[in-house]
Amino acid sequence: MFTLPLLPYDRAALEPYISARTLDFHYGKHHQAYIDNLNKLVAGTELEKETLENIIKKTASDPAQTAIFNNAAQAYNHAFFWNSLRPAETPTEASLPEIAPKLLVLINSTFGSLDNLYADFKAAAVSQFGSGWVWLVKDGEALKIAKTANADNPWARGWKPLLTIDVWEHAYYLDYQNRRADFVEAILRHLLNWQFAEINFR
Ligand code: FE2
Repeated sequence: MFTLPLLPYDRAALEPYISARTLDFHYGKHHQAYIDNLNKLVAGTELEKETLENIIKKTASDPAQTAIFNNAAQAYNHAFFWNSLRPAETPTEASLPEIAPKLLVLINSTFGSLDNLYADFKAAAVSQFGSGWVWLVKDGEALKIAKTANADNPWARGWKPLLTIDVWEHAYYLDYQNRRADFVEAILRHLLNWQFAEINFR
């Protein structure tokens, strides 16, 4: 049985950028529903004892397993998203993020600057048609920004995810209505967890 992983912070910890009300629905209802659906779909099958990552890899290219892939990937993507965020700093503490030197060197050589990375990330988020995810991934030894539609996931394409932002409407509509760009900008500037990126980068 898969269970909803604990949120790594309090539900109000991302305010004022993401409200506790949004997390009540997004984490408490949407994420929970993907877990519940996955448990029903894999019950009694050989996938029941696999990790989410293995289920994603095994079902990604099999049209007969689309429902399992979608729910496993969404369960994984949401857990990854919660870890991609960290509690908001108070405005007086706002400062440049601490990024591990090796990762920062690669960011600068790939994008030119952290601001350029943010701009590319935001452009990908705004141009993702409909539901999906924007990722910072490691493709071999290279860094890149990638967007995926619906439940799709970097592991299904052989990329290693470092950070993600959920750009499904349910992620931002209560707080930002149709302003996806503002939601993404707020996360990039105030909530992104670069320590998590560094752990994934190693
Ligand atoms: Fe979501």
